Amino acid sequence: MSRQSLILGIDTSCDDTGAAVVLNGRTLLSNVVSSQDSFHCRFGGIVPEIASRRHLEVINPIIDEALAKAGITFRELDGIAVTFGPGLVGSLLVGISTAKALSFAFDLPLIAVNHLEGHIYANFLTGANISFPLICMVVSGGHTSLIYMKNHGHIEILGRTRDDAAGEVFDKVARAMDLGFPGGAVIDRLSQQGDAAAFSFPRALMNEDGKLDFSFSGVKTAVLNSIRRETEKGNRVKPADLAAAFQEAVVDVLVEKSLLAVRQKDIKQFLLAGGVAANGQLRKKLRQRLSAEKIELTYPPVELCTDNGAMIASAGYYYLRQGRLASWDLNAAPNLEFGGT
Ligand code: KG4
Ligand code: ZN
Repeated sequence: MSRQSLILGIDTSCDDTGAAVVLNGRTLLSNVVSSQDSFHCRFGGIVPEIASRRHLEVINPIIDEALAKAGITFRELDGIAVTFGPGLVGSLLVGISTAKALSFAFDLPLIAVNHLEGHIYANFLTGANISFPLICMVVSGGHTSLIYMKNHGHIEILGRTRDDAAGEVFDKVARAMDLGFPGGAVIDRLSQQGDAAAFSFPRALMNEDGKLDFSFSGVKTAVLNSIRRETEKGNRVKPADLAAAFQEAVVDVLVEKSLLAVRQKDIKQFLLAGGVAANGQLRKKLRQRLSAEKIELTYPPVELCTDNGAMIASAGYYYLRQGRLASWDLNAAPNLEFGGT
């Protein structure tokens, strides 16, 4: 591999089309994301058929734009990294087919990146000096996992959600409150004017001895029941209070479990990743608690928390260094968790 390594990263795992160029896994040269929110919001969730058709329409112009913004051509690239799972199968296949075609046409290594590992690597684009071993919490629309990373490519799952993912409950509560889709960022904003003590919602599994699994379906049901009960009584619920109390219940569990994990492993570094890592209250509480334990906390800027091609390009660089290359029979792996190549 040349000393300067330029990787094109492509992500079409869900409803955003992302392409980016990253230098040596660490330096972002361009990052283009085409959001489909306006196509899906009227349905209150993602419609897989619409998502894959839209990816197909925009993928080539998005990649062209990423290269143009980085000021390079296909011939200057050192590899093509693409998300192969988890995600929606039709969406994933658009990115995978595009990456295969480019890799074949320009004779470039094809790198199949696990989307969840990709989220972790958004942290490598922050300029922070990240030291292993570390613990990372991946909190997204589809996953909530605590993982231990001894080094690049060495991942151990410490805990995961037993039902809904944290982002999923943010979206479901937002939908019940008529706040639109996706709802995490709206609840985050609204909470700032709310009183978290106005409602008391459950914190499932929080005090379970040493266990690092999560469960969020209970808090979701409790919020939906509160909305129904108060509406039936003719009471006017202050949306900001409801949002703040719900958010605090979710954040409390995420923070307590993170601290529990940190005490079980000898680490100095904690990474936060995934769409919910954009949450202001989660960042603040985690920072306070981890700094008291003298543990370095890193999280990506908000635009790199949600899905993007840059995190895939960064992960792709480290995969390439480990020789983790894909072959032409690469297929989508919609139900993948961590690992897989
Ligand atoms: O990682 P991501 O872009 O997609 C998946 O791979 O799932 O995460 C999207 C999730 C959505 O559920 C969205 O509501 C949530 O991240 N999210 C947030 C915030 N911004 C995005 N949740 C809480 N607070 C936020 N500020
Ligand atoms: Zn994601």
